[in-house]
Amino acid sequence: MKPLVIAGNWKSNKTTADALRWLQDFKNHIGSFPSYITVVLCVPFTLLYTVKEKIRVYSLPIVLGAQNVSPFPDGAETGEESARMVRDLADWVIIGHSERRKNFGETDEVLAKKVEQAKGAGLQIIYCVPDDHTRIPYGVDVAAYEPVWAIGSGEADTSANANMVIAAIKAASQVKQVLYGGSVTAANVASFVGEPSIDGVLPGGASLDPEKFADLITNAR
Ligand code: PGA
Repeated sequence: MKPLVIAGNWKSNKTTADALRWLQDFKNHIGSFPSYITVVLCVPFTLLYTVKEKIRVYSLPIVLGAQNVSPFPDGAETGEESARMVRDLADWVIIGHSERRKNFGETDEVLAKKVEQAKGAGLQIIYCVPDDHTRIPYGVDVAAYEPVWAIGSGEADTSANANMVIAAIKAASQVKQVLYGGSVTAANVASFVGEPSIDGVLPGGASLDPEKFADLITNAR
């Protein structure tokens, strides 16, 4: 079996109490899954420590990711979390999500700096692109194809088209794995990971509910 990455993205959701409930429910619902699947959970900065602790205490088979990182190193950057600080708690980080490009004005130039910082700190990067034309900075191993219209719309791309775009992304870059994101659910995940070029998925909405996320992982096998 090819290695698969399933990366849940909580976005700007959940208090500490919400996260603790999620983790307990997830523990009760997740069965064992094969080692070719890596499950990453990308949570807000405010929850990284709590979730990291519970992953350890419950021995959950998941790794922790952040959703953002500063383009600057440690220093006088009020309100930013440097890659070194993020790496203290997380193993993975999402960079270039379309919500950050659109709502926070993140340009390719800023994103390249974030990649440089994250790489330097030893974070595994999931670099999101909306199509196969967007530049992927050198050094990124894992990308995610996320068509903007499919994000949060309940209308996923077809697995055949996603496979075609992802094959094109791989042909045009040095990335090793490319995930699909945009309205992935427990019901459609198998069709995406069954495609030859797709190496996993990046579900947002479907990761907020622990049972749905556990089902999604089960159905990806
Ligand atoms: P969605 O979000 O699964 O809710 O469509 C995916 C994403 O934005 O990463």
